[in-house]
Amino acid sequence: MERVNEIRRGTLQEQTFYEQVGGEETFRRLVHRFYQGVAEDPLLRPMYPEEDLGPAEDRFALFLMQYWGGPTTYSENRGHPRLRMRHAPFAVDRAAHDAWLKHMRVAVEELGLSEEHEHTLWNYLTYAAASMINTAG
Ligand code: HEM
Repeated sequence: MERVNEIRRGTLQEQTFYEQVGGEETFRRLVHRFYQGVAEDPLLRPMYPEEDLGPAEDRFALFLMQYWGGPTTYSENRGHPRLRMRHAPFAVDRAAHDAWLKHMRVAVEELGLSEEHEHTLWNYLTYAAASMINTAG
């Protein structure tokens, strides 16, 4: 038994962040909740070109899964992320950034992750959101 436990501990340390937080289900929940916020948001909703937010939700979930060490389906479908370039057609100003993070905050909190995991995820999201601003105002 001792041995098995030791092996288990070693295995846990090698898990990716993706696995540690619960894998695909967790990222799907996160992005789904986030898009519920976007769907209701008068500033953000008009920025999304497609009437159906489902495909955008899928792209974002696959991107985050890949980023955190999960399957690489995003790049298989979409190529290199080049996120700043992909956001260039949209005027991401401070107000859009703030609205985006507001909905993301709700979605992250509802995951109920450990403090450490939540902190890691949130740090990344705030940093990434700031780097996506491409329009003054
Ligand atoms: C700061 C505010 C942001 C705004 C207003 C914004 C807005 C948008 C819009 C309008 C789209 C197009 C929807 C679609 O057709 O897929 C999009 C796509 C996307 N966004 Fe953002 N975004 C923001 C930040 C971020 C951040 C921080 C990330 C990553 C952590 C991100 C990841 C993505 C991804 C992966 C896509 C799909 C790219 C593709 O494959 O075409 N976005 N975003």
